[in-house]
Amino acid sequence: MSKFYILGIETSCDDTSMGIIDSDYKVLSNIISSQPDHELFGGVVPELASRLHLKNILPILQATLEESKLAWDDIAAIAVSVNPGLIGSLLVGLSFAKSLAFALKKPLICVNHMIGHLYANKIAFPDLKPPYLALVISGGHTELVNFRTQEDFTVVGKTRDDASGEAFDKVAKILKLGYPGGPVIDRLAKKGDRNFVSFPRGLEREPGYDFSYSGLKTSIMNYVKNQTGEFIAEHLSDIAASAQEAIIEILVTKTLKYAKAEGIKKIVLAGGVSANSRLRELFEEKIKGLELFYPPLKLCMDNGAMIAAAAVEKYLNQDFSDLSTNAFSTKGIRII
Ligand code: KG4
Ligand code: ZN
Repeated sequence: MSKFYILGIETSCDDTSMGIIDSDYKVLSNIISSQPDHELFGGVVPELASRLHLKNILPILQATLEESKLAWDDIAAIAVSVNPGLIGSLLVGLSFAKSLAFALKKPLICVNHMIGHLYANKIAFPDLKPPYLALVISGGHTELVNFRTQEDFTVVGKTRDDASGEAFDKVAKILKLGYPGGPVIDRLAKKGDRNFVSFPRGLEREPGYDFSYSGLKTSIMNYVKNQTGEFIAEHLSDIAASAQEAIIEILVTKTLKYAKAEGIKKIVLAGGVSANSRLRELFEEKIKGLELFYPPLKLCMDNGAMIAAAAVEKYLNQDFSDLSTNAFSTKGIRII
């Protein structure tokens, strides 16, 4: 088949984003508009997010098409995240995608947002294929997924409470570092001592591959309560580095343990937390003999190009969605 282009629309949480890629996974444009308005509230306010998507969506479409230097006729299909996410936010993107598909007479391709995160890797490594073990870590998800083929996969471990990104965000909130927490903790931790405090590693001694971050949250809350403001300010980077180590070390340990037990040779990281520099470093340090893949930094967070990437194979298989398709918020990686 000759080359084709796909527009991807992403509005599942607080980033309005669109990207255009070609059938070889080359990115022609990828525009992301974040919503700093939520910072004031220390987390995403769903109703505010939907309204901001509505406000941003048309200018972003124009900018995305302009940056790609393509015309509407060049676009083969409209891809959009329909699950999981904030339902109001998803509905803004899906309704917009449906209107475009209807008006332009192009097929609509619905994508699971977590599969989208995984496909951010295809943009950097177009030949990457299962079998592999994926660690999908974002603001709402922490899932260890054994992909035997692209369609045949099992979630072998997941969080029992907070997601790893959520743990970063909660630690940042406790330390009054603002939202989102991951990038600021990552930055601060670089100058800190990660052995300064030993925070608990969730479910470290339990068999199986589930994760838990509620113990860490309580532990850091109590730790901060028992110190003076001056002490916290003086050791902020040490505390951030110690908390970060507790969040990411258990991810690395359990992922490698499963891969070794099952003889899996490739590990693929996906989602916002895969941007974490210490996580990447620790994986590289411990991976010994296995191959590690993760997306380029700017494709780790929510973006439209990864949604378009997840639609390439669907386009080839003519796996199109009806205009009556609905969005849904149920968590987890799944085939749509
Ligand atoms: O995948 P994503 O953009 O959105 C969701 O689907 O949730 O992930 C956002 C999450 C936030 O919790 C944020 O704090 C975290 O990813 N994050 C990071 C880093 N950059 C973003 N966590 C750790 N280190 C980072 N460098
Ligand atoms: Zn995401």
